[in-house]
Amino acid sequence: MNTPVIEAHALIKTFGTTRALAGVDLAIHRGESVAIMGASGSGKTTLLHVLAGITAPDAGSVVFRPAEGAPIEVTALSESARSRLRRERFGFVFQQGLLIPELTAVENVALASMINGVRRQDAVQHAASWLA
Ligand SMILES: Nc1ncnc2c1ncn2[C@@H]1O[C@H](COP(=O)(O)OP(=O)(O)O)[C@@H](O)[C@H]1O
Ligand SMILES: [Mg+2]
Repeated sequence: MNTPVIEAHALIKTFGTTRALAGVDLAIHRGESVAIMGASGSGKTTLLHVLAGITAPDAGSVVFRPAEGAPIEVTALSESARSRLRRERFGFVFQQGLLIPELTAVENVALASMINGVRRQDAVQHAASWLA
């Protein structure tokens, strides 16, 4: 099998006395759809945030292998480099609260591209085709 697009190794994240991640290993391959299931409070959101570089783990590593270019060790990046990675490379649909109600669905999707410097007209056109 090809090398994973996202690979996590021995992730640990603790909040106070709560161990949210207790040594998580995970490999996700290009084109794969993965559902992470577990009881409320079992650490799903924490894992997603660590994989995405939103949250830094206490220990362990996350490597992202883009289709082109060198592998990126997400857990070795600065906070600003992780923000740039999310802006340019990752896409999210959050559970709640992060759509802007004044904007249409197409505009909500186009917004991320516009922040990334794509012209409004192009961003809206791409967003409409993605949603379609
Ligand atoms: N920012 C935080 N501060 C303190 N505790 C947190 C924080 N985020 C998550 N936790 C705790 O870590 C555990 C895992 O939470 P979470 O990853 O949100 O689980 P899930 O998404 O599976 O419901 C829970 O016990 C939760 O209360
Ligand atoms: Mg959650």
